[in-house]
Amino acid sequence: MKRRDFLTSATSSILAANGLASIAGGPALAATEAAANRLKMPPLLDTRASGRLQLTAQSGSADFLGGGASKTAGFSQNFLGPTIILRNGPLAAEVRNTFGEAVTAHWHGLLVPGEHDGGPHLPIREGGQWTPDMQIEQDPATVWYHSHIHGRTAEQVNSGLAGVIHLTDGRDDQRGLPAEYGVDDLTIVLQDRRFDRSGRMVYSPSMMDLMHGFLGNRMLVNGQAGAIAVVPKGIVRLRLLNGSNARIYNLFFEDSRPMHLIATDVGFLPEPVALQDLSLAPGERAEILVNFAEGAPTVLMSDPGQAFGVLPFISDDTLTPRITKLPAMLDGEQDVILGPEVRTRRLSLDMGMGGMMMGGGGFAINGRSFEMGRIDFEVALGSVERWIVRSTMIAHPFHVHGVRFRVLKENGGSPRPENSGWKDTVLVTGEAEIVARFDQPAGPDTPFMCHCHILEHEDAGMMAQFTVT
Ligand code: C2O
Ligand code: CU
Ligand code: CU
Repeated sequence: MKRRDFLTSATSSILAANGLASIAGGPALAATEAAANRLKMPPLLDTRASGRLQLTAQSGSADFLGGGASKTAGFSQNFLGPTIILRNGPLAAEVRNTFGEAVTAHWHGLLVPGEHDGGPHLPIREGGQWTPDMQIEQDPATVWYHSHIHGRTAEQVNSGLAGVIHLTDGRDDQRGLPAEYGVDDLTIVLQDRRFDRSGRMVYSPSMMDLMHGFLGNRMLVNGQAGAIAVVPKGIVRLRLLNGSNARIYNLFFEDSRPMHLIATDVGFLPEPVALQDLSLAPGERAEILVNFAEGAPTVLMSDPGQAFGVLPFISDDTLTPRITKLPAMLDGEQDVILGPEVRTRRLSLDMGMGGMMMGGGGFAINGRSFEMGRIDFEVALGSVERWIVRSTMIAHPFHVHGVRFRVLKENGGSPRPENSGWKDTVLVTGEAEIVARFDQPAGPDTPFMCHCHILEHEDAGMMAQFTVT
């Protein structure tokens, strides 16, 4: 099939399949349109030389669908934030806020103490700034940052207060991994957003939206609707972030080419794992390698059964492929966490229907809705804990601040490949058993959070806080 025919048929089948139509163009997508709709990367903010990071939370506007401007927010730009490159060592951050209301800068996936974590107890007031002097010391990973004001997180993240962080040790060449930003190493932020008939982005969750989380009717990738990724004819690395408020993706390629999983939330796997489909819940990241050597176009899709297009890919002969074969091994450490296992804790992610009807009180952990002034439990610094986490009613992506954890069991069996590496967020479809060593301190003034990463559930109280001392 010729490229053009392929895109045409893919476009119509996807448009027919779902209102979540992400493919631009239409029946006559031409090369010039592909160029115009080419997927853009967020701008790079490389902190490696300076050890300094400056961001400004701001309001903005963006015309996503060509139907008029929507009110948005971003870090140092109109929508979303730059891709920050970090290396281990000291990092002097400075986050300013001109957004119009308090925000935070939470580093989701960075292993830093509670006072640097940017959680709900570290608001930056309008006109103010926050200057944590951080020390980064962890394995390479794709992590992210977003605002985290209790009760406002869902709306603020929906409006754009989020961005990606690449934590790198500069050794991807030795690993044989693609590492050229925007060429063979693509940052891909998946977000569904809701647009009204005039094409403006809206956020006004109903009771039903609170229940399931707020779902969109259009896909945005890196804040673009209808984007097309253009890649070299070789191995391409996709750093996927599910930055959606509530949508869980079950990703696959339309031509069923394999996705070689190389990293989960907080680090590399020991070796690539070939997958046909990959589930990615809100807050989770996955790095995959995809082979484009043959040059055939394809479409990254979601949800077998009621498929919709997430992102089409075409290859470009003028881009020189740097990596042409998959690495056999990686250097992700999978050792069992060391230390005496001091305690088992049970956490249930609760969603009571009755309470919800009476104003959202049904969202809770262990029956208690989140309260800023209440510490829910205390963990001993340096200890290892096993947590058994249960979801009630629907699947909830459970996230823990300040640690990387391993999934020991999912519903009594071994974890799915997506959950076989270092994680900070896990989709709990029934019961998940996780283990972590709590190495970062967090006092009662800036405790760590654990919560459902469906942001409407989190804001409604499915969150708890704990100290590590
Ligand atoms: Cu991604 Cu508590 O956050
Ligand atoms: Cu987090
Ligand atoms: Cu939830």
